[in-house]
Amino acid sequence: MIDARRRRLLQATLAFALAGRAHAACRPSKPVADEPLRRLPELALDRSVSWGARGVLRAAPLDLAVAGQPARLLTYGETYPGRLIRARAGETFALRFENRLDIPSNLHFHGVAVSPSGNADNVWVVTPPGADFDYELPILEEEAGLFWIHPHVHGNTARPLFAGLAAPLVVENAIDRESELVQAEEHVLVLKDLTVENCAAAPHRPTDWILGKEGEMLLVNGQIRPRLHARRSLLRLRLVNASNARFWKLALDSGEPLHLIALDGRFLESRVEIDELLLVPAGRAEVLIDLSHGGTRRLIYKPSPRRGLNETPVQPVLTLLPPDARQPVALPQRLATLPRFDETAVEAQRPVQLAALMINHRAFHHRHQGMQVTPTFEVKAGAREIWIVRNDDVMDHPFHLHTWHFDVLSVNGKAPPFAQHRDTIGLRPGDVARLGIHFDRYTGRTMFHCHIAEHADQGMMAVVEVK
Ligand code: C2O
Ligand code: CU
Repeated sequence: MIDARRRRLLQATLAFALAGRAHAACRPSKPVADEPLRRLPELALDRSVSWGARGVLRAAPLDLAVAGQPARLLTYGETYPGRLIRARAGETFALRFENRLDIPSNLHFHGVAVSPSGNADNVWVVTPPGADFDYELPILEEEAGLFWIHPHVHGNTARPLFAGLAAPLVVENAIDRESELVQAEEHVLVLKDLTVENCAAAPHRPTDWILGKEGEMLLVNGQIRPRLHARRSLLRLRLVNASNARFWKLALDSGEPLHLIALDGRFLESRVEIDELLLVPAGRAEVLIDLSHGGTRRLIYKPSPRRGLNETPVQPVLTLLPPDARQPVALPQRLATLPRFDETAVEAQRPVQLAALMINHRAFHHRHQGMQVTPTFEVKAGAREIWIVRNDDVMDHPFHLHTWHFDVLSVNGKAPPFAQHRDTIGLRPGDVARLGIHFDRYTGRTMFHCHIAEHADQGMMAVVEVK
């Protein structure tokens, strides 16, 4: 017979012994770089059901090696970063979430235009440790592009995200099969930074909660500077910035342009040549790279002007080797039609002020996850609104709205060089963006916030209710 006190003592001793052992086994080595690029393992889906597909996504800690370094990380589907999920437009996508973490968690389907209520992209739902939750997403016929999944529990987002909880979600559509894009070799690339300390994701320090946490290793699919040896002459890189706070500015070292075809899960109307691509946290972009002339290129990371951080030096993050047998490529011109926001039918203009880790002078609080909060904005279902989002802070803040993409009407009074429907937009100190939002299709309560994960966790988040 063991009494409770004795049992607790035994447990404590055991925990101490285990911790000691884990530490003794932790022998960090020099990080490994330049290995062949790995394809992210895909989540197995059951497509035998008539309505779509179903799968299971488990969040759990696991001992792994990242760039040769042993690390206990948090995983979606037993891998870092999380498993690649391929859903299809027009189907119902059912995903059972198994929370095997020791914290409450949930899934946010960042950017997917589904309901913010019920068991769709409902971030008010929180699943306790050990429990499951069944999500069901009726994916629209017109949806096409790259999205991602991450936890969205207030106060429990930044740490688990840094430790690995991020999974790319591709929604496939006819355009992927019926356009010039079929000739392209597709790679989904998760950009994520990480520092490993004591064989685990480095803990947050007080300043991380202000500046946003950045990791020392710049990882592409969990690898340092991997080598992509292409098999085809045209590459389609589908990039998601799943970092907590790092801004990734990318360019080719050859000086050639990147052919931008999509942003934030929306195709552009036509291909645009850009010299640099800036991906803020949670941002996605798709670029084509023409390798038909041979030669090795590198995708280079450049420090962005984000304030308050030690600048990470310029460095290659991906090496691109041309295929052995090259072919001429045809680049697509026209891609999609983006309906323009109708400014003559606007029901409301709303100022949104980002400052001092708050939105419109209010901070989101833990207890608000229980839905008790008064929304900052109440919107009429179906309304068209213009939100004037102003960064009155000394730091950069990427602004994100759930459920509804916005048409970027202007930034600092200037219309963007090409039409873009975004779900996340980076705002520098002093920037003012006018965003046209059509609150169509769905009703319910959801959130808008800064996507520096630490800022959101600190309360830089607000609620919009559409009814
Ligand atoms: Cu990707 Cu509310 O977040
Ligand atoms: Cu912020």
